[in-house]
Amino acid sequence: MLNLTLDWQTIVVSICCGLIAYYVIKRLKFRLPPGPWCIPIVGNYPVYTSPDPYRKIFQMVDTYGPVISVSYGPMNWVFLNNIDVVTEAFVKKQEDFAGRPQMTTGKMFTDGGKDIAFANYSPMWKIHRKIASKALRHYLQGSLLQDMIQENMSKFMDEMAKETEPFIPRDYINLIVFHQLYTLCFGEKRPVNDPEVKDFLKTYEEFVVHFGAGALEDIVPFLIYIYQTAKYKQLVKQKEKLFSFIKQKYNNHKESFDPSINRDLMDCLLIAKHEAESESADENQAEFDDVYLIQTIGDIFFGGTDTSKTIMDWFVCFMSGLPHIQAKCQEEIDNNIGSRQLTTKDRHRLVYIDACLCETMRLGPAVSLGVPHCTLCDTQVDGYDIPKGTVVLANLYALHRDPKHWKNPETFDPTRFLNKDGTLNTKPESYLPFSTGRRVCLGEPVAKPELLLMCASFLQRFKMSLPPGVEPNFEGIPLSFGVEVPHSYKIVIKERNV
Ligand code: HEM
Repeated sequence: MLNLTLDWQTIVVSICCGLIAYYVIKRLKFRLPPGPWCIPIVGNYPVYTSPDPYRKIFQMVDTYGPVISVSYGPMNWVFLNNIDVVTEAFVKKQEDFAGRPQMTTGKMFTDGGKDIAFANYSPMWKIHRKIASKALRHYLQGSLLQDMIQENMSKFMDEMAKETEPFIPRDYINLIVFHQLYTLCFGEKRPVNDPEVKDFLKTYEEFVVHFGAGALEDIVPFLIYIYQTAKYKQLVKQKEKLFSFIKQKYNNHKESFDPSINRDLMDCLLIAKHEAESESADENQAEFDDVYLIQTIGDIFFGGTDTSKTIMDWFVCFMSGLPHIQAKCQEEIDNNIGSRQLTTKDRHRLVYIDACLCETMRLGPAVSLGVPHCTLCDTQVDGYDIPKGTVVLANLYALHRDPKHWKNPETFDPTRFLNKDGTLNTKPESYLPFSTGRRVCLGEPVAKPELLLMCASFLQRFKMSLPPGVEPNFEGIPLSFGVEVPHSYKIVIKERNV
C-alpha cells in the first residue's frame, strides 16, 4: 500500500513545480509582451514594491517597446505605454479589455464588486453605470453645482484670507474639495472646522494610502481564509467606518425621499433608481438592492475627492511657482469677468485658465495608471497575445510625457492646448487624463467644470506666491497607486481686490 503521508516540504516543492510548469507552458503557448526578467512566482519585486512604478515602466519603453509585461508576484500585468496601443486595447477592442481584476481588497471594499469602478464588466455594472450617469446629468442641468461651488469656495477663501504668514495650501484644498463632494453627494453643508468631517477625512486619507499600496492578500488571495494580515484587518476596520457614515446618510435620504424634489446627487440617484425600477420587470428588482446605490455614492465621493484635490494641489503649485503664467490667467479674468461671480457658463471666457488646467492634468501625476483593467477573453495588442484574465494598465504618465507627442514634456506650457485662433484644443493626441473607452471616467462631465470654477475663483481673489527666497519645485511625492502630490510647499497670498 502507498504511503500517502506528505510532509510540508513535499507540498511546498510540488506547488512550486506546478507553478513553474504553468509559467513555462504559458510562455510557450502565448507570444506574451516582453518585460524585465524575474524569478518566477516572486515576480518583478523592485517594480511592484516601488512607490512610482509608472516611472520605472516608462524608463523601460526604449528597451521593450510600448507593451510591457511585468510580474506582480505570480500574476502577469501588462502596461500600455503609448496612445496607439491604449487606443487599440481600450477603444478598438473595448469589449475584450473592459473587465476589472477581482482583487481581495477591492472585493472587500465594494461588498463583492457591487460598485462601478471595481465591478467586473457585467449587465449589473451597465445598469448601475447608467443610473449614475443619469443622476450626474440631472445634477448638471440646474445651477446646483455652480451655487454649491461658489458658496463653498467663498467660505474657505475667507479662511485663507486670514493667513498672514506662509502656509501650506494643501490643508485648505483638501477641505475645500472634501466639503464640495460632501455637499454634492449628501446635500448638507457643514461648518468649516467641523470635527466630524475632519475625523472622516483623516480615516479616508489613511485608507487611501493603505488601499493604494495593496495587501499581501491581493497577491496571495487564499491567505484571507488562513491568516489575515494586520494590514488587511486594518483596511476592513477603516472601510466599515467610512461606509457606516455613507449608509447613515443614505437611510436618511430614503426616509425623506420625494421623487419630485431634487436636493442633491443622492436624491438624483434615488430618482434614477425609482425610474429604472418602474421600467424594469418585477423579477429584476434585486438589481436595485440598496448596497449598489450606497456603493455608487461611495465611488462618486471617493473617486471624486482624491483626484480633484490632487489636481487642485498641482494647479496651485504650478501657479505659485510660475508667476508670469499666473499673471496671464488673472489678466484673462480681469478682461472677461472682472469682479462678478464666476459661473459654469464662463468656460469660453476662461480659455487660458482652462489650458493651464489641462496642462496641470497632463503633468501632475494624479491618476498615472488609471484603474486596472482585466481581459475578458484571449486577445491581442500590438501583435502580442494577452490571455484572458490578464491585468492591463494604461500608463497615462507615459502617454503624457511621450516625446513623440510633447516637445519638452517636463515643461509646464499651457499653449500646447491652444489653437492658432486662441481657442482650446480639447483633444490633443496622447492626452487621456480621464482614460478612454468603455471604462472612461464617469465623473469627467462634473470634474471639468468643477475644477475650472475652483481654479478660476482662486485666481480671481488671490495673488499666490512662494515665500521670499524660495525657488519653484515641481517634484512630486508618490502617495499611493499612481497618485503623486507636489512636494510639501508653502505659499503667501494677497487679496487682488479686482
Ligand atoms: C480630475 C479629476 C478626475 C480624474 C483625472 C479622473 C480620472 C479617472 C480615470 C483615469 C479613471 C479610470 C478609467 C479606466 O478604468 O480606464 C477613472 C474612473 C472613474 N472615475 Fe474618475 N477622475 C476624476 C474625477 C472623478 C469624479 C469627480 C468622479 C465622480 C463624480 C469620478 C468617478 C469615476 C468612476 C466612478 C470611475 C470608474 C468608471 C468605471 O469603472 O466604469 N472621477 N477616473
